[in-house]
Amino acid sequence: MDKHQHSQTAEIAAALRVWHTRLDAPPAIFDDRAVIPLLSSGMRQLVAPPPPLLAMQWRALESAHPELAALRGQTVTRARFAEDALDAALSRGHQQIVLLAAGLDTTALRRPDILDRATLFEVDQPATQWWKRARLPAHTANRTRFAAVDFARNRLAERLRETGVDPQRPLFANWLGCTYYLPTETIGSTLRGLAEVAAPGSELITDYWLPSQSVSWRPRMLLRGVALALHTQQEPLRGLISEQAMHQLAEGAGWQVAEELDAPACRARWLTGRRDSLSVPAFARCLRLVRG
Ligand SMILES: C[S@@+](CC[C@H](N)C(=O)[O-])C[C@H]1O[C@@H](n2cnc3c(N)ncnc32)[C@H](O)[C@@H]1O
Repeated sequence: MDKHQHSQTAEIAAALRVWHTRLDAPPAIFDDRAVIPLLSSGMRQLVAPPPPLLAMQWRALESAHPELAALRGQTVTRARFAEDALDAALSRGHQQIVLLAAGLDTTALRRPDILDRATLFEVDQPATQWWKRARLPAHTANRTRFAAVDFARNRLAERLRETGVDPQRPLFANWLGCTYYLPTETIGSTLRGLAEVAAPGSELITDYWLPSQSVSWRPRMLLRGVALALHTQQEPLRGLISEQAMHQLAEGAGWQVAEELDAPACRARWLTGRRDSLSVPAFARCLRLVRG
């Protein structure tokens, strides 16, 4: 990705969360319409409520080809997984919230209550972070701490300390929609960097994607299509990783695997009984890691 350009995938993930509220049956698994003012004008037009006939035709297409709704399903279920874990961490008394690769995460906008009881740190690549900061209302930006970090180039732990993370107190972190863009060694160094400032009791919610050969042909075709599209966006997929390798990286960095959700587990938890075609692709995994 051009280091002067903001991440396109940050906008795409945000748009998928908005489309969920436009296309899928209520109740929303994760309602992120708060992100709309942060989107670029072209993307804002794309997430406008579709004309009813078009929405009906699109829903019919998705019901015949549920893989079309799989990335949207993954994006909202991982966001919900992280939000539920965040609430649980707050109720345990965590007062440091770290959003790694925050993109257009709207925690600060949707949950001003959190800013009263905890410090919110957002971490992202400089260009994406500056682009987002300029779009946030000043009173929200002023209550958020920002660390500009490229996981492949900068020392995460050092930047987090400089920004005010207290390694003596447990933190809650999420790191969503990012591992697949990073080489394996950068996934490992990021897990280690966060662990360096994460006191015992800290928690990290993340997600990762399995290599294409570990899934059947339908999700494999979806993954190939996504890989091609991301390549043209200059954010190529680099970090598809097996469960065993991901656990080894996490444990080697000092995290224990507390919970792992594969696609069937995500579908069972959030998609059962829904009246839409939302799905979760077989290559997607969610992880809850704790610092012992
Ligand atoms: C698909 S977006 C996900 C954003 C957000 N977490 C979400 O779920 O909507 C990917 C994010 O990873 C960030 N990212 C990708 N490579 C990175 C790197 N090397 N260092 C820091 N952030 C990176 C991008 O800037 C972008 O914000």
